[in-house]
Amino acid sequence: MASEIVYESPNHKFVWLGRDETGLEEGVQTNQYLIINNGRGTLLDPGGFGVFSRVVVNMSEFVDPERVDHIFLCHQDPDVGGGLASWMDMTPARIHVSALWIRFLIHYGVAALDRIEGIPDNGGSLTLSSGNRLEFIPAHFLHSPGNFHVFDHASGILFTGDLGAAIYPKGETPLYVEDFEDHVRHMEGFHVRYVATSRAIEYWLSKIRPLPVRMICPQHGSIFREKETKKFLDWIAKARVGFDANIFT
Ligand SMILES: [Fe+2]
Ligand SMILES: [Fe+2]
Repeated sequence: MASEIVYESPNHKFVWLGRDETGLEEGVQTNQYLIINNGRGTLLDPGGFGVFSRVVVNMSEFVDPERVDHIFLCHQDPDVGGGLASWMDMTPARIHVSALWIRFLIHYGVAALDRIEGIPDNGGSLTLSSGNRLEFIPAHFLHSPGNFHVFDHASGILFTGDLGAAIYPKGETPLYVEDFEDHVRHMEGFHVRYVATSRAIEYWLSKIRPLPVRMICPQHGSIFREKETKKFLDWIAKARVGFDANIFT
């Protein structure tokens, strides 16, 4: 499936970078996103080696790799940033990731540590060339101990990494959530097992409640539009996960 523009204004786009139709991409289905602001690119969770060529091709429809200024990794997992060394060769981007994980990125073959900007535990922000701001929202233990989400003030889109992830049978993931009640059964298992405690959700909710979130874009599964975003926030606020769901007895 080709790319899809999720939000567009004259100087700002938020783009979903497509999905594999060849069957060659292995592992869990992942979403990659590109923000284009004044013709300059920011990549969110560009992914591992298996998706690299598809993401490069789809991204290049919108922006040249030399014009990608920033790459954000919500945490350290291989499906998030396993292809980082190749992205750093191909673009001049600076990398934004929790300060907790910088020393681990060396294991992905990353040498230019001077291009990596560690995000402190309490978060941070990035001002794009138009003056629009991307905010790094603390989302620790959802599921990684050093974990951030990105709020794009221009579009009202919150990128939530693994939070809001849904796992469908291969090839069946809808781009947008259409039937929230049905979608829940594809989200439940992941959240209950990967998020250790419901307290992490309470902490995250305290950070995002003040923000004017219009849409939620996760790294796996489907995008939540405005109505579904409200339903998701209600659902996740009540979800009992990890040790609070008594998964180990
Ligand atoms: Fe993860
Ligand atoms: Fe993931």
